Amino acid sequence: MRSTKYIIGFAALVCLVCSVVVAGSAVTLKERQTINKQLDQKKKVLGVVGLYTSGEEITPEEINKRFAENIEAKLVDLESGTYVEVSAEELANFDQRKARQDPARSKSVASNPAQVARVPNRVLVYLGLKHGKVDKLVLPIEGKGLWSTLYGFIALESDTNTIAGLTFYEHGETPGLGGEIENPAWLALWPGRKAFEKTSSAWNPKISVKKGVAGSVAEDPFNVDGLSGATITSRGVSYLLQFWLEEDRFGAYLGNFRNNTLKGGQG
Ligand SMILES: Cc1cc2nc3c(=O)[nH]c(=O)nc-3n(C[C@H](O)[C@H](O)[C@H](O)COP(=O)(O)O)c2cc1C
Repeated sequence: MRSTKYIIGFAALVCLVCSVVVAGSAVTLKERQTINKQLDQKKKVLGVVGLYTSGEEITPEEINKRFAENIEAKLVDLESGTYVEVSAEELANFDQRKARQDPARSKSVASNPAQVARVPNRVLVYLGLKHGKVDKLVLPIEGKGLWSTLYGFIALESDTNTIAGLTFYEHGETPGLGGEIENPAWLALWPGRKAFEKTSSAWNPKISVKKGVAGSVAEDPFNVDGLSGATITSRGVSYLLQFWLEEDRFGAYLGNFRNNTLKGGQG
């Protein structure tokens, strides 16, 4: 028969060993998790400009190579719609979510259907390059679905209107319902559609996920099929796109790009 002291001591030792193992692995895996997250993000950016196909076998080295050869990251000041020149280190370490939470680097916005409460002053965009020229603009987007905030990118062609692609890299919607925003078949419906309706005086965000089935790209350029059984997530996608494409968000930047008035060139 073991003494009570022995049993308590043994249990304490087991707890100590387990906590050391758990804490140790959390610390040692953190760096790998960060690297994997960055690789996943790069894959999403490559995917939205058509340089990576979902399911394609690709090594981390190839992701980094494709990214370095074809993509340039830039910080954009939303209010002026111009590029902000920062060091490569600052650019690499820029965390848009942290910036959004920092009152000194963000501002609150009026209540809106996308349910975005704060917008960072600066955002990280990616330029898709082709023969040294900017061929596509990859803009970060976020907004509420049913259960969660949806984080993704929309890619526009250099006309700043034709959609090159849409992708989401983080959300907490239900798999098979709202989670279908990640389905490659649904995402394939986006390229070629138009983000804005142009009037003589303005570019108004018009792209929308409709309830039901949309027509072809040519017949129905401003609509995309709704996700069945997930009307709230679908509506969230419309709202967040319209929110970020508005004049107060990416409008100034897209206007500058379109009119060739971007300080620091077109990338
Ligand atoms: C367990 C459960 C999970 C759901 N997940 C989602 C979701 O992720 N996105 C969504 O829009 N609706 C979701 N719904 C359905 C919504 O409650 C709502 O009924 C739906 O958005 C209406 O879409 P419909 O008009 O296409 O049927 C879920 C429902 C249940 C019961």
